[in-house]
Amino acid sequence: MQKLRVLIDKETIRKRVTGLADEIRADYAGRHPILVGVLKGSFVFMADLIRELNMPMEIDFIGLSSYGSGTESSGQVEIVGRLRCPIEGRDVLVVEDIADTGTSLSFLLDYLRKRNPSSLKVCALFNKPSRRKVPLTVDYLGFDIPDRFVVGYGLDFNEKYRYLPDLCVLEEESQGEP
Ligand code: IMP
Ligand code: MG
Repeated sequence: MQKLRVLIDKETIRKRVTGLADEIRADYAGRHPILVGVLKGSFVFMADLIRELNMPMEIDFIGLSSYGSGTESSGQVEIVGRLRCPIEGRDVLVVEDIADTGTSLSFLLDYLRKRNPSSLKVCALFNKPSRRKVPLTVDYLGFDIPDRFVVGYGLDFNEKYRYLPDLCVLEEESQGEP
C-alpha cells in the first residue's frame, strides 16, 4: 500500500514561486525571454510561474523522457516533443520540475546550446542535491529536498498524483503490522 505525506504544502510552494518570479523578472528586465518547460512534470509550475512573472515573454515546451516507469531513471534521455520556437539569438530559460541525477537537464542544455541561444539558464522548483551524478548549475532554485521520491504539483509516479496541490512523499506502507 502507498501512503502520501505532505513534504512542502501548497502555500509554501506559492510563496517560493513568487520569490523566484521576482528574481527572474529583475534579471530579465527589458528582455523578451523564451521559457522552455520540460514536459510533463513542469506544466503546473510553469503555469504558476508565468502568471507571477507577469512580463513580456514567450512560452514553449519540450518533452523529455528518462523514466520508463517506477522511481528510478533509466539514464537514457530521449526528446519526445520538439520546440516550436527558434531559439537562436534568444534568451532561453529552462523551467524544470525537479533536478535529480542531473542527467536529463544536462542532456537538454547540451541540445539547446547547439542551437545558439544568446543566453541559457535553468529554473528548477525542486532539487535533490544528494542524488546528483552529472554536474549542473541551477540558476533559480526553489527548494532543496531530501532523497525521497516525491509526487504532486505536476510530478507523478507512473502518471498518478500530478494533480495534488502539495508536494508529497510517496511512502510504502509496510504490510502486516499491528
Ligand atoms: P534526472 O535526469 O535524474 O535529474 O531526472 C529528472 C526527471 O526525473 C525530472 O524532470 C522528473 O521528471 C523525474 N523525477 C526525478 N525525481 C523525481 C521524483 O522524486 N518524483 C517524480 N519525478 C521525479
Ligand atoms: Mg521532468
